[in-house]
Amino acid sequence: MADSDSRAGLRYATPEIVRFVDGLHARHDAALSAAFGAPAARGFPAIQLAPSEGRLLELLASLIQARRVVEIGTLTGYSAIRLARGLAPGGLLWTIEHEPAHAAEARARIAEAGLADRVEVVEGDALAALPTLAELGPFDLVFLDADKGRYDAYGRWAHANLREGGVLVADNVYFFGRLLDDDPDAAAMRRFHEEARDRFETACVATPDGLLLGVKRQG
Ligand SMILES: C[S@@+](CC[C@H](N)C(=O)[O-])C[C@H]1O[C@@H](n2cnc3c(N)ncnc32)[C@H](O)[C@@H]1O
Repeated sequence: MADSDSRAGLRYATPEIVRFVDGLHARHDAALSAAFGAPAARGFPAIQLAPSEGRLLELLASLIQARRVVEIGTLTGYSAIRLARGLAPGGLLWTIEHEPAHAAEARARIAEAGLADRVEVVEGDALAALPTLAELGPFDLVFLDADKGRYDAYGRWAHANLREGGVLVADNVYFFGRLLDDDPDAAAMRRFHEEARDRFETACVATPDGLLLGVKRQG
């Protein structure tokens, strides 16, 4: 049940509530702690998913018994570990990262999590890397979490390379509160929303910065 305040976007979450529920539902083991803590420890931007969002990705991958997954935006591998843990037996994840130092740290954290046989960190710019991955598809799930001004292009690639019924997940779709601004990146994000609505069954979940979920339509 939502009330009028929560329907209008008001949040009841406090840092204390979030810590409490994350401790219950999105608890970190040693490997997740290491990947989650790595950006701060290494002086990288701490822009990884929240624990609850990471856990949601893991459950989504597991729900659809994903065997082939692409992630755009690895950072230090936190969401990659979550996604890889949700894969069906024999499943594979390709995760794309253009910063060599981020990619190296992610490889180390993924190996430490015992997932190196299931996860390939593809180093390079996503727009250049995606065409090289296409032949490995069709994919069951594509997760977007990199440069926001290109979500429209990433969304088109996802549509072309997901199987029917495959799942698109995109973080930061409120564009840090700038979704309605008059600038090219915000316009690209709005285009992403509109094209996703046209091609997928969609829901935009009111996480702190918005999470778009799409299921690719048949036909
Ligand atoms: C928000 S972080 C990813 C966080 C990660 N998904 C997690 O939750 O653990 C975005 C990452 O995308 C990378 N990135 C940004 N633009 C990119 C591009 N065009 N191609 C590849 N990687 C890119 C950044 O270097 C950064 O590491």
